[in-house]
Amino acid sequence: MTTDLVQLTYKGSVATIVLNRADKLNALNAEMLTALETYADELDRNHDVRVVLLAGTGRAFCVGADIYEWSDLTPLEMGRRWIRDGHRIFARYARLPQPVIAALNGYTFGGGLELALAADLRLAAEGVELSFPEVKLGIIPGWAGTQRLPQLVGPSRAKQMIFSGDRISAEQAEMWGLVNEVVPADQLAARALDLANSIAANGPVAVQMTKQLIDAATPASSDNGVVLETLAGSLAAYTADAEEGVSAFRQRRQPKFTGR
Ligand code: COA
Repeated sequence: MTTDLVQLTYKGSVATIVLNRADKLNALNAEMLTALETYADELDRNHDVRVVLLAGTGRAFCVGADIYEWSDLTPLEMGRRWIRDGHRIFARYARLPQPVIAALNGYTFGGGLELALAADLRLAAEGVELSFPEVKLGIIPGWAGTQRLPQLVGPSRAKQMIFSGDRISAEQAEMWGLVNEVVPADQLAARALDLANSIAANGPVAVQMTKQLIDAATPASSDNGVVLETLAGSLAAYTADAEEGVSAFRQRRQPKFTGR
């Protein structure tokens, strides 16, 4: 692995993956997605790892997909590569045998929130803001957000978040069941490691089986969900509204949508 943008380290039986592109608020580009997939392969095969932590450096856990990268793709590339890649890679984390804990700091938006939703548990630092801002760009959440969010918070709250693009606080997210715990920001890393170690001390086979049993009882994303998000995401990204949304983001102004 030749990128520093995503780092994997081990401490005892806990593996930690850190998104490390702080100058871009950890926006996920293709290089980072590839690194995440490589690490998922490694973790899947490493039976010494009992818990996986996901974290972000700087002011954000992750502000989502890199707008500059996806907005340069053709519709076919968008569907074939970008959306399907993200789905496949995030599903790798959801399906890792080990429990995955996302430790959320700062902004947790769009694809960043979708990555967090692929984790089994989410801890949030006080001050964290969570949102699905895609509709503000004229596009849709394309990495299983429309599939996993309703499973956690129910369709009504999921629709509120996704239709409005508004941010919710860590406390609201906890009330809605979107995060498990809210902790003071300076204690986030320690609490995440503490929780990881307490899980890691338990019988690993039993823990991993319970993960699979609970997931079998609460399927987060169907195959139809992948197909639908791929088609809808590719289409939405090539509307005049998406072009306007991306231009407005680049020019740091409010978009003027026309519904075309
Ligand atoms: N993709 C690519 N780059 C992004 C990004 C994204 N999703 N979000 C932020 N960045 C970049 C900015 O372009 C900026 O880079 P620059 O310094 O080279 O100009 C850097 O990260 C810092 O962002 P900035 O907007 O200056 O920080 P801020 O504190 O003023 O605002 C946010 C933070 C999160 C509110 C704002 O960056 C934002 O709205 N980002 C887009 C989030 C989004 O729509 N996500 C879904 C993507 S599909």
